[in-house]
Amino acid sequence: MLHPATDILKKVVEKTGTPVMIYDEERIRTRISEYLDNFKSDKFETRVLYASKAFCSGYTARMANEAGMYFDCVSGGEVYCLTTNGVPVSKLYFHGNNKTPREITEYLGKGRGHIVVDNADELGLIAKIAEEEGKPADILVRVNPGVEAHTHEYIATATKDSKFGISIDKKDEILEMVETVNASSQLEFQGFHAHIGSQIFAASSFEGEIQAMFDFIEEMVKAHGVTVNELDLGGGFAIQYTDADDPDDIPTVCKRMITNCECQMETRGLDIKIICIEPGRSLVGDSGYTIYTAGCRKKTDSKEYLFIDGGMADNIRPALYGAEYQCTNLTRETEPATKNYVIAGKCCESGDVIIKEAPLPESYPGDLILVYSTGAYGYSMASVYNKLGRPPVVFVNGDSARVVLKREDYKELEALETNESIF
Ligand code: LLP
Repeated sequence: MLHPATDILKKVVEKTGTPVMIYDEERIRTRISEYLDNFKSDKFETRVLYASKAFCSGYTARMANEAGMYFDCVSGGEVYCLTTNGVPVSKLYFHGNNKTPREITEYLGKGRGHIVVDNADELGLIAKIAEEEGKPADILVRVNPGVEAHTHEYIATATKDSKFGISIDKKDEILEMVETVNASSQLEFQGFHAHIGSQIFAASSFEGEIQAMFDFIEEMVKAHGVTVNELDLGGGFAIQYTDADDPDDIPTVCKRMITNCECQMETRGLDIKIICIEPGRSLVGDSGYTIYTAGCRKKTDSKEYLFIDGGMADNIRPALYGAEYQCTNLTRETEPATKNYVIAGKCCESGDVIIKEAPLPESYPGDLILVYSTGAYGYSMASVYNKLGRPPVVFVNGDSARVVLKREDYKELEALETNESIF
């Protein structure tokens, strides 16, 4: 696996210390272009939404916005980060299964954007607030196509009992939601949304989703007279975490999806105006790296531990999903691997293991350990467990580097402390 030039990485570490998260800016730009250049059709408009939950920062918001992307956001915090960094609300798709009145009011107040509605309760709330405030919005209804994608239970979203969306089988419920939208003077129904899960390797899973969605839309249009302008197929495209992962590349997946959609549209005589996808992980995941400093080592009867100065606080994925990562010892890259270390963090928890078996050369305290592909859902799911504070985030571009998020140090953590009487 590749990483930016070792001397640049070492220079970053000299400035910031460890742990530090580093992104290769050029690689993110390449990923953005791979999507924008290949998810294209002359039969319908295409939109690529950056699922900002994968890593939400002002810097990435500006990058993706300048490149011409749209955005998937799921909270007031994400909406705030995106809009304060120049993203117009017209480029936002507001997701989530339980948007709060505050989030809805603030979002509507920013201008006309898309809202992806998860359930009838939520729709009632959105319609009421939009009416009261006199603010319009474009609506997609999230349906759950029931397509099994082979991925971890916690990141599979389209199983029958999922908390997300309305099951595709519940046509009456969905039609009722479309009617509620159409009855509103402020809301305009645009179409449907689906998302089948995350870290999906097989392009065929997306073809299954497309098939299911077109079956459904054809029935909605022909049997029930629903006008469908937009179809949003969600995200979920896999990346390489270790040498064992071999996902289809982005251009291939995009082209297959486009051909599939064009074909479905033509054979069914449908005229959907806009088709969207929402990649998150695959835009930033394999462009991000975490560098730690190795500290103490320990041998047990069957294991050899190499402890690092971060862990589950900056990367919860191994503990939460059994996610696998690969690393290299940046200090001894030319030396052959002679050991099989357990790379464990410094949090007070046995499950705080980042890599269960890492083939590395004999490693020493002070060595720099780089973990690959930590760019998605690493920082965004980080906690401050054990008051570790989140690492700084640095963007490297050729031979220059800039800090885009500062280290969360003792003072930043202390800034939240208060002793203010509230009644
Ligand atoms: N659209 C919707 C509606 C989603 O729920 C998600 C991810 C995406 C798009 C982007 O999916 P991606 O292209 O990044 O796979 N924390 C988990 C992943 C959770 C994904 C949540 N939704 C992880 O670390 O693997």
